Amino acid sequence: MAKLLAATALNAGETDKPVNNIALSLTGTGITYQPGDSLGVWPTNNPDEVELVLSILKTSGSKSVSLRGQLANARDALTRRVNLREPTSELFALMADHARLEFESVRLSRLAENDELVAEYGIHDVFDVLVKFRSARPPIGPFLNALAPLQPRLYSIASSLSAHPDEVHLTVGVVRYDLNGRGYHGVASNFFAEHLAEGRRVPVYIQPSHGFSLPADSSKPVIMVGPGTGIAPFRSFLEERKATAATGKNWLFFGAQHEAGDFLYRDELEQFAAEGHLTKLSTAFSRDQAQKIYVQHRMIEHAAEIWAWLNEGAYFYVCGDAKRMAADVDAALKEIVAEQGGMDTDAAAAFVKQLAKDGRYCRDVY
Ligand SMILES: Cc1cc2nc3c(=O)[nH]c(=O)nc-3n(C[C@H](O)[C@H](O)[C@H](O)COP(=O)(O)OP(=O)(O)OC[C@H]3O[C@@H](n4cnc5c(N)ncnc54)[C@H](O)[C@@H]3O)c2cc1C
Ligand SMILES: NC(=O)c1ccc[n+]([C@@H]2O[C@H](COP(=O)([O-])OP(=O)(O)OC[C@H]3O[C@@H](n4cnc5c(N)ncnc54)[C@H](OP(=O)(O)O)[C@@H]3O)[C@@H](O)[C@H]2O)c1
Repeated sequence: MAKLLAATALNAGETDKPVNNIALSLTGTGITYQPGDSLGVWPTNNPDEVELVLSILKTSGSKSVSLRGQLANARDALTRRVNLREPTSELFALMADHARLEFESVRLSRLAENDELVAEYGIHDVFDVLVKFRSARPPIGPFLNALAPLQPRLYSIASSLSAHPDEVHLTVGVVRYDLNGRGYHGVASNFFAEHLAEGRRVPVYIQPSHGFSLPADSSKPVIMVGPGTGIAPFRSFLEERKATAATGKNWLFFGAQHEAGDFLYRDELEQFAAEGHLTKLSTAFSRDQAQKIYVQHRMIEHAAEIWAWLNEGAYFYVCGDAKRMAADVDAALKEIVAEQGGMDTDAAAAFVKQLAKDGRYCRDVY
């Protein structure tokens, strides 16, 4: 059980992408970690949503229920144990059985059989199901048992124990978006942003990294590419390399939408750069000009130097968006290797593959 020390906004002023530094105390937990590890967090559901569900189902929060074989009270089960984000086919089937209106029962049965209809019917979470099918009000016990279990969330650790003894820090992007005319909030990111009060505790565990770690030889240079919340493990790397007086050079590529609002950990990074600890800091602010500028564009601009660092034995790390950024950065790296190393496409791909095999090209993407 880690205690919240502080949730601090990392944005300066206006932003479309709020991000918080979450500092947790590990005192008394016996938990330790290495830079590159992730923290698993068991969040709780939004208390307002829990009360709404109780009221819609006309149930007292203190009612005793058996959930997957364990006794709990309804409020606690809704708060800690069930997934209110993704409706299951079991929920649709249960609601179909309890719908008093025939057309609602038919629709719910269709949803139970074909989850591709969910988007077509404008359903995104469990609350939508209760609101759209007003004649279906199952008892709380079967309702809870028809929901999926609440899952933990993983966060890349953003601190080093050498710099923050007995603490773990996270870089949490707050998930909020509009769909079908209503707002939705991500469970864990809003739990940290809004619902976990300072001094309160949250269950956590360490998910050790498999290979996403600093070079054993601390004289090796590191190149880190971490746009958005992908910066997290690199703050940890930089803190650790400073605290342990590692002699290797450090180069960070950071990207975000706007320099003014979204330059996460700006003061710390600029301080590291001023001290010479951060040998190079290359930034890409995508929306501060007419044309998008991303981290991979900055990499291409510095192709010769990246190639020189790789030849000095640099390790190359990428963290953040798996869907587009990681693939584009991978393509840029191969382009740099081909152009600077005078290789054809196949030879450049083989070179990058060998880097990965040697543990010198490491990715933590999600
Ligand atoms: C190894 C690993 C490391 C990670 N590290 C970090 C980190 O350092 N920082 C960080 O912020 N996150 C990180 N994540 C992501 C993190 O685990 C959570 O997924 C994230 O915080 C969202 O959780 P949530 O509970 O707030 O949102 P949830 O309640 O889980 O909601 C998220 C879901 O909402 C849906 N959704 C989101 N946006 C939209 C949209 N615009 N339209 C429609 N649907 C949408 C998607 O289905 C998405 O999966 C990491 C993930 C992994 C696997
Ligand atoms: N599972 C979840 O719900 C969840 C929650 C939080 C974060 N995440 C994921 O975590 C990752 C980081 O999210 P984030 O919001 O901190 O940052 P992000 O969305 O990765 O944005 C950071 C910067 O990267 C830019 N970018 C967009 N496409 C890119 C590309 N193809 N190559 C390089 N840069 C690109 C963005 O520019 P533009 O925006 O101007 O295009 C922005 O300037 C993303 O994968 C995000 O989906 C997931």
